[in-house]
Amino acid sequence: CGIVGYIGHRDVSKVVLDGLARLEYRGYDSAGMAVVGEKGVQIVREVGKVADLARQIGEFPLEGTIGLGHTRWATHGGVSVENAHPHRDQDGSVVLVHNGIAENYLEIRDELAKEGVSFYSDTDTEVIAQLLAKIYDGDPKKALVELYRRIEGAFALAVIFADDMEHLYCVRKGSPLIVAFGDGENICASDVPAVLPYTRSIAYLGEGEMACLSRNDVSFWDFEGNPVEKDAVEIDWDISMVDKGGYPHFMLKEINEQGAVLRRSMLDRIFHGEVDLSRELSWSSESAKRIKRLHLVACGTSYYAALVAERLIERFSDLDIRVDIASEYRYRDIPIGNDTLAVFVTQSGETLDTLAAERFAKEKGARCMAITNNGLSTVAREVDDVLSLKAGPEIGVAATKTFMGQMTVLYLMGLYLLKLREELSLGDEMRLVREMEVLPYKVESLIDRADEIKAIASRYCEARDFLFLGRGFSFPIAMEGALKLKEISYIHAEAYAAGEMKHGPIALLDRSVPVVVVMPDDNLFEKTLSNVQETKARNSPVIAIATEGRKSILGQAEDVMWVPKTDMELNPFLAVIPLQIFAYYVALAKGKEIDQPRNLAKSVTVE
Ligand code: G6P
Repeated sequence: CGIVGYIGHRDVSKVVLDGLARLEYRGYDSAGMAVVGEKGVQIVREVGKVADLARQIGEFPLEGTIGLGHTRWATHGGVSVENAHPHRDQDGSVVLVHNGIAENYLEIRDELAKEGVSFYSDTDTEVIAQLLAKIYDGDPKKALVELYRRIEGAFALAVIFADDMEHLYCVRKGSPLIVAFGDGENICASDVPAVLPYTRSIAYLGEGEMACLSRNDVSFWDFEGNPVEKDAVEIDWDISMVDKGGYPHFMLKEINEQGAVLRRSMLDRIFHGEVDLSRELSWSSESAKRIKRLHLVACGTSYYAALVAERLIERFSDLDIRVDIASEYRYRDIPIGNDTLAVFVTQSGETLDTLAAERFAKEKGARCMAITNNGLSTVAREVDDVLSLKAGPEIGVAATKTFMGQMTVLYLMGLYLLKLREELSLGDEMRLVREMEVLPYKVESLIDRADEIKAIASRYCEARDFLFLGRGFSFPIAMEGALKLKEISYIHAEAYAAGEMKHGPIALLDRSVPVVVVMPDDNLFEKTLSNVQETKARNSPVIAIATEGRKSILGQAEDVMWVPKTDMELNPFLAVIPLQIFAYYVALAKGKEIDQPRNLAKSVTVE
C-alpha cells in the first residue's frame, strides 16, 4: 500500500492525490483521502485507481491544511469502499491510513466490541483507529507510544487527531515510511517518488520511530517516547525520473533504459578491465577466503537474477552456493553461520519476506549484504554491505531495468568475490569484463529492433497457455520470461528446465500451446535443440531466442527472436530483452493495464 500525509500551504487534496498517483505502483485496488480544515475532517474513498478518486474529489473539492491519502493493496478485507482507507474511530476523533498488517487485530476487535465499539469494516486498520481513539486522552505522543506497544505485526501509519489541526503524526513498525522536509510544509510518504515535486531532502523513519509534523517543524521520538535526532539526506533522483518521458507506459520506458542501467551499474566499479569494489566493500582476500557458503535470497524477479548469478559463480568456485526464495529460506533448517555470506537481492529493499530472511540470517551469524535499487531502504540499512543498482526509480510494476541492474551488480560482486578468493583467473575476469562493457551497445541494438518482436507478439497474443524452456544460464531467463508474460497479459505461462519437459509438461503440448525456447549459443545448444524437436513432434509452435547467425534454427522454429553473440555467461543479459518486449506487446494487444497489472503490487511489505 502507499501512504501520503501532507501539512503545509499548498492545495492539500492536490498534493495528496499527486503523491498517491506516484505511489500507485504499491497498490491500486482502492484509494482514499482525508482532509482536515474548517469543515472538520472530510473523508473520500473510492474503489479503483487514484484517477477514480480524483474524479470523485473533482466534484467535491476538499479544503484544509492537513491531508492523508492511501492507495490500497488489499490484505484484510475485500476490495470495497468500506474497507478503503482512511479509517476512523466511531466518534471521528482519529483518522488514519495504514500500510501493513496488525496481526492481533481480531483479539483487539473482540475486546473493543465487548466495550461497545461498533465496526463498519472488515479491516485491521479500522481496529487500529478504534483502539487509538480509546487510548487517546489528549496527548498524541503518549497515545501513539501505547498503540505501538499494543499492535503486533508490521505497519506504517499516518494519523490525524481531529482536535489537533496543526499536526500530522506518523509511526513506523516494519513497513517503510519517509519524512520529507519542505519550506513551510512537510510530508510523510511510503516512498520517495511522492515527495519529489516538493523537496529532495528526506529522512527515513527507523524501526520503532515516530514523528510529529507541523508546517515548519518535524520532531522524532522512539517507541519509548525518547526524542530522536535525525539528519536529512539529499536524494539524487529528480522528478523527470518518475515521468513517462514520452513513452506510453513506464514499462516501455524502463525497457529502453536498460543500456544506460548497465553502464551506470558498472561505473566506478571496473578499472582497466578488472572489477574493483573496494570503494564500496571492505572485503579482504582473507575475509573472502573464510566464506564457505554463499546464499542468494530474493523474491520474484530478483530471485531469477540470483539464479543467473549462481550459474556464473559456481563455474569458478568451490563455494557451497544456495539460492532461495526469501519466504522459504527463513523457515528452513539449514546451516548458516559466520562462514556464510548471505546476499539479499531486492529492488525496493522493502520486501518484507526478504527483510525477514535477512534478519533470520543475521541472527544466525551470517555476514549479510544487500543488492538493491534503494541504498537507503530498510534492508540496506540493516546489512553489513550494500551494492546499489543505480537503475533510477522503476515505476512499472513488472520489473525490467532493475532485473538488468541486479544481474550486472550480482556479476560484479561475484567476480570480485572469486577474485579475492583467488578462484578466478585474470584471463577469465578480463574476458568477462571486456564483454560486459560492450553489452550496453548490444542491448540497445536489440531494443532498436523491437518491431520484429511486436510482429511475433501479434501472432501469439490469443494463445491461452505458453511453455517457456531453457537450460543452464537460460533456465532462469525462461522463468523470468514466463513471469513477465503472466504478470502483465494474464496468460498462463509456465517455465521448465528444457530437459525436464519430457518428464511431465510435455503432456500439455498441442498446436494451441506455443513454446518459447531460450537457446542462445552455449554448451547446451544441441541438447536444447533436441527438446525443440520433441516439441515440434507434438505440433506446438516454437518461438526460439537464438544467437544471430545460427541459421540451423530457422528450419526448426516458427519464429525466431535473434540476439547478438556474446559469451555464454552473458547471454542472460541479452536473451531477457526480447522476452520483456514480447510480454509488453502481447499485453498491449490484449488491452491490459501494463504498468499496473491486476492483483499485483510492486513493493509487498506484508508477509
Ligand atoms: C513484488 C513485485 C515483483 C518483485 C518482488 C520482489 O512481488 O510484484 O515484481 O520482483 O516483489 O521485489 P523486490 O523489491 O524485493 O525486488
